[in-house]
Amino acid sequence: MKLLLLLCLMDCFLAIGQASSGTFNVLNYGATADGIGDDSKAFMAAWKAACSFTGGVKLLIPKGTYLVGPVKFDGPCRNVSSITVSMEGYLKASTNLSKYVSGDDWIQFGWVHHLTLTGGGTFDGQGAVSWPFNECSKREKCKVLPSSIKFVYTEHTVVKSIKSLNSKFFHIVLLGCKNFWGSNIVAQAPSDSPNTDGFHIERSSGVSIYSSVIATGDDCISIGQTNERVVISGITCGPGHGISVGSLGRYENEGDVKGLLIKDCTLSGTTNGLRIKTWQNSPGKSSVSNLTFQNIILKSVANPIIIDQAYCPYADCSSKVPSWVSIRDIIFSDIRGTSTTPVAVTLKCSSGVPCENVNLHNVDLRYVGGSPTIAECLNVKATYSGTQLPLPCN
Ligand SMILES: *[C@@H]1O[C@H](CO)[C@@H](O)[C@H](O)[C@H]1NC(C)=O
Ligand SMILES: *[C@@H]1O[C@H](CO)[C@@H](O)[C@H](O)[C@H]1NC(C)=O
Ligand SMILES: *[C@@H]1O[C@H](CO)[C@@H](O)[C@H](O)[C@H]1NC(C)=O
Repeated sequence: MKLLLLLCLMDCFLAIGQASSGTFNVLNYGATADGIGDDSKAFMAAWKAACSFTGGVKLLIPKGTYLVGPVKFDGPCRNVSSITVSMEGYLKASTNLSKYVSGDDWIQFGWVHHLTLTGGGTFDGQGAVSWPFNECSKREKCKVLPSSIKFVYTEHTVVKSIKSLNSKFFHIVLLGCKNFWGSNIVAQAPSDSPNTDGFHIERSSGVSIYSSVIATGDDCISIGQTNERVVISGITCGPGHGISVGSLGRYENEGDVKGLLIKDCTLSGTTNGLRIKTWQNSPGKSSVSNLTFQNIILKSVANPIIIDQAYCPYADCSSKVPSWVSIRDIIFSDIRGTSTTPVAVTLKCSSGVPCENVNLHNVDLRYVGGSPTIAECLNVKATYSGTQLPLPCN
């Protein structure tokens, strides 16, 4: 009797249909999936229903092409134990910039816990139309274009098997996230597209990005202020500007960056390889510490290893005031490959706060032009072990 009742319950449960099993399909909320009609409202309605459900839920974006403007998938989703966004479709970002009011990004996930974003789908930022309006690559004060996928104060987030194409600005942004795992992610934009960083990570902790391919016009990965416990591994990067810590020291009250491990990556044809950059004349003090770069292959990279504490990309950088970001406990270990310039190692530290405890172990970087590579150093006492090409600075 009990068993029969249980079977009936399961049948009845299934009969009620998708929603009661916790799956919310955007097509049931009015998405047209024709790539022409704006599906933003349907997406947000489906999210709202999912977020108000109890237990484990799934937001399904089935195969199809969807045109969407800025969408906010925000929590908290109080009675939801976990939420999976199964993104199997092809999303095209609206190119009408007036839809992105006051700093809106394109697809935002905010204040949710136990979120998984997966499904093999593509987020196409349709950036080419907006890149000519990018002012930030030219001057300091600028209107920032929308980033494609942004995670804001999420906790325990898994992102795997998705693709991001031609973002208007950054591809994927983490802001204030705790415990984030990203893998099998492809981020792609042309090498001359402005500020199309693959990942930008800020104010986050416990972040792991691995087994991903990034080809873009700016940093493959940029690690901004106030981050700790970040592991980057198995990244294929290029073209792009490489893997960068910074820029730091641009704003007041920036937090420290500590506990970074960047390992088992291959960078090809990038302008920089492994970079730490801090602004000259920083308004506050902060630090970068406990940073390890390990087992990295650099192929035809212009500045393979570079610490630059006089960073200022604009024309009017007249300040002689040094950076106040201190850098210490840095390891470059097993770094090998080729440089397209003779200066393969640059350690240009701040005269205000010289770098401390910078270690190079087994560095083998050869100039494609044939002559030996050289190292340039300023305000740093580095230690060396194992192979050293270029030869250490005196
Ligand atoms: C969560 O579940 C409780 C108990 O079932 C209910 O009273 C409450 O309204 C739900 N909260 C939300 C935000 O759905
Ligand atoms: C762009 O979006 C704005 C704000 O939603 C709207 O008023 C305007 O008509 C749109 N322009 C085009 C060309 O669709
Ligand atoms: C340095 O960072 C690594 C990687 O995040 C971490 O595992 C380790 O505990 C840190 N070491 C110290 C002394 O903080």
